Amino acid sequence: MPAPQPLPAPSSCRLTVLKAQRLAPHVLQLWLQAETAFRYREGQFLSLMLPDGACRSYSMANAYHSAGRIELNIRLIEGGQVSGWLAQHAAPGLALSATGPYGDCCWQAGAASVDIMLATGTGIAPIKAMIEQRLQSGLTRPLIVYWGARHVDDLYLQELFAQWMLLHPLLRFVGVIDDSATPARTVQGCAAQDHPDLSAAHVYACGGPAMVHAAQQLLTTQCGLPLENFHADAFEPASVAATSAPTAGVTLQVTDRAGQTQPLTVAVGQSLMQALAAAQVLQGVCGGKASCGTCRVALPEPWLARLPAPARAEARLLRALEQPQPNQRLACQIALNPELDGLQVSL
Ligand code: FES
Repeated sequence: MPAPQPLPAPSSCRLTVLKAQRLAPHVLQLWLQAETAFRYREGQFLSLMLPDGACRSYSMANAYHSAGRIELNIRLIEGGQVSGWLAQHAAPGLALSATGPYGDCCWQAGAASVDIMLATGTGIAPIKAMIEQRLQSGLTRPLIVYWGARHVDDLYLQELFAQWMLLHPLLRFVGVIDDSATPARTVQGCAAQDHPDLSAAHVYACGGPAMVHAAQQLLTTQCGLPLENFHADAFEPASVAATSAPTAGVTLQVTDRAGQTQPLTVAVGQSLMQALAAAQVLQGVCGGKASCGTCRVALPEPWLARLPAPARAEARLLRALEQPQPNQRLACQIALNPELDGLQVSL
C-alpha cells in the first residue's frame, strides 16, 4: 500500500464572502476569498467561525485554487445556529474566519481498476472538489459517481455533471433517489449492483453516517473491496470512544506546549478529547471521527502500552499528519477508564 500523501498543516485564515446564493431550497453556496494562503487537499474540510464565535465544519467544494477562492455548499438546517445565521446574513463583503484544513478523505494515488464516489446530500461537495481536481489532471480510469437524495430537486449539480460527462467519457454520474428501505435504491446498493467485483477499486463515501457505515459494510463484504481502499467522511459527529456513563474521576497530568504540567481531574466514561476539550486545552474539530487530527496528543511509552492499538482510521490519519511520531495518538479515540488514572498527556 503506498504511503499516504501528507496533509497540509492546519492554520487560521480570514475569509471574505464573494457571493452567496441558493443552489437548492436547502443548500446555500458560498464563494469565499481567503486573505492568506489556505492550502488544502480536495476532500478536506474547514471549521468556519461566525463573528459570535460559533463554528461548524464544511467541506471545500472546489479544487484548490491558488488565488484562494473557496466554495462551500452549506446544508440549511431548520433552527441551525450557524447555517441559519448564514442564510440570513451571508452577503458579499461579510468577514468570517476559519481554521483548517482537516480530514483525510482525499484522492489516493496508485493503481486501481475504477474509482467509485458515493455521496448523499451535501456530501457531494468534497466529492465535487475531488472530481474537479481529477478532471484537471486528466482521467486515466473510470470514475463513477453515485449521488443520493430524497428528491430530484436536491441533486442540484446534475447539469454540471451532465456537461462534464460530455467532455470526459471516463466519468459517469448516477443520480439516486434514495430509499433506505429498499437497499437497491441507495447509493451503495446501486454501486454494489453495478460493480460486483471491487477488489481492485477505490471507494470514497461522503455524507450521512448511516450511508457511510452501510457502504463500508456492503462493499467490503459483498464486492470484495479491500477495507484500506474505503475512504470516508461521515458528516455527522460520530460517537466518540466512550464506553460507559460518567461515573468516577481520574486525574490526568497534562503538559501544554510551553512545557508546563498541570493536573486535571475528569470523569471516566468519556473520551480523552472530550475531557480535554471541556477543559479548553484542545479542540476536537471533527467531533471524534478520527478525521481532523486536532486532538493529536503524545503519551509516554508506559501509557501507550496500556491502550488498545489504534484502529485503521486512527493509524491512517496519524501517518498522514505533519511530523508523525510513534508516541502519538488521537485523544478522541481513547476512552477514559479508571485504569488511566495518572495518565500523562502532552499537547
Ligand atoms: S477530534 Fe478530530 S481526530 Fe479527534
